[in-house]
Amino acid sequence: AMTLATAAVAVTAYTWTIARVDTVGRVDFEKPLQLPPLAASTVGPDGVRSFDLDMQSGTSDLGHGPDTETWGVNGSYLGPTIRAKRGEKVRMNVSNRLGVTSTLHWHGMHLPAAMDGGPHQLVEPGTTWSPQWTVDQPAATLWYHPHMHGETADHVYRGIAGMFLIDDANGPALPDRYGVDDIPVIVQDKKFNGESLDASSAIFNDTGVLGDEIMVNGTPGPYLDVTTERVRLRLLNASNARVYNFGFSDDQDFQLIGTDGGLLAKPVAMQNLRLSPGARAEIVVALSPDTTTVLRSTPPDLGAGFWNDRFAGGADSFDILQLRAASTLASNAVVPEILSTLPDLGDPTVTRRFDLTSSTSLNNKSMDTNRIDEVVTVGTTEVWEVHNSSGQVHNFHVHDVQFQVLDTDDPSLAGRKDTVYIAPNETRRLLMRFTDFTDPSMPYMFHCHLLRHEDQGLMGQFVVVAPGETAASSAPHHAGH
Ligand code: C2O
Ligand code: CU
Repeated sequence: AMTLATAAVAVTAYTWTIARVDTVGRVDFEKPLQLPPLAASTVGPDGVRSFDLDMQSGTSDLGHGPDTETWGVNGSYLGPTIRAKRGEKVRMNVSNRLGVTSTLHWHGMHLPAAMDGGPHQLVEPGTTWSPQWTVDQPAATLWYHPHMHGETADHVYRGIAGMFLIDDANGPALPDRYGVDDIPVIVQDKKFNGESLDASSAIFNDTGVLGDEIMVNGTPGPYLDVTTERVRLRLLNASNARVYNFGFSDDQDFQLIGTDGGLLAKPVAMQNLRLSPGARAEIVVALSPDTTTVLRSTPPDLGAGFWNDRFAGGADSFDILQLRAASTLASNAVVPEILSTLPDLGDPTVTRRFDLTSSTSLNNKSMDTNRIDEVVTVGTTEVWEVHNSSGQVHNFHVHDVQFQVLDTDDPSLAGRKDTVYIAPNETRRLLMRFTDFTDPSMPYMFHCHLLRHEDQGLMGQFVVVAPGETAASSAPHHAGH
């Protein structure tokens, strides 16, 4: 009786109240997986590769009829996959045809704060914002999404998100034929109200929306025809709040080859991989001819015993994507034993402490777009020690940098990360080095990537300054704010 009472109280405290769904075995996999098209680009005489990205509204068939109102980039749902090479100069012409103010943020990108697409780079309706920067970081699976303060959850939920792949000519040989053996897998959970995508604020509880249907690249119940011996899946958790624990229906091993900011040093064989919102993972799975397997999510280990008990028995499990291997499979690149060299971030000279204090506050403060919370000197290596005292599920994302998670032997945290799950009562120490870009008046963000929490104030701002320089007394003010 004691145990039951404790569990009941704990569940209330976590406010993860609408997660009781179980679609395992009920998905029919009737639809071919849609692939986001590769974004068209042009290279001008100045050598800059330009992309035109139009944020717009439209209708989509997400399995509830053809007229579901959705948002997208260059289309009605999600956006094209942007691809650029390390070393290239890129320009994004972001036009806003949504009728409401938004932004477009390059999640995981190392770039000047004014190009970041955060809450200070507003794109007003009917205008175009054209940030430009040089891509200078390892090959990686990044992504883009709105970052409009207070509206991010809604804008992403309606459909604005896409992948941003960085290629590096000096990287190892890997399956890399887009749509053939290199597949974007954008995983999102959705709720519907009749034919409508239920984007109403009513479904955003304190955790944020937890949908009861899963889709990949906007395809409900998708299958993928596999024609090669192995296939590389670029997993992106583009859900607002849900944490997944990816694996395969037959418990087969896969190789984890990359995380948020690029390739691991070496591939790691595993059966299950936890991925929190905003995080990415690249995995390679080998198939035998004429077989099928299903990418699924089983209850994630969220770090507290009663929590996991609650998910026992299949609740919060999802079948996600069926892989159908052809009767003859073409040979393709085998994953090499060495994938990359992880950077030496140096010895930290600064430690900052952060506490995820509630679903609306960080260090007991709610986000203020006019307040600069942290001032970092360029060239320093720091440890950010992040504790979760809130009794709720959170993760932590830092703009501009890829960090190294210290004090862990979890192979899924061994590589470059920009977003990491932080369990209730857990402390993570994150090693990061700030380089290249300074701007005393334009902040980068750090926040929980459960988008409702971010919108509600679980976010802060830091500026990177030159040695001896001081931050502007406040962040930029916007007209109307
Ligand atoms: Cu994916 Cu601050 O964002
Ligand atoms: Cu959170």
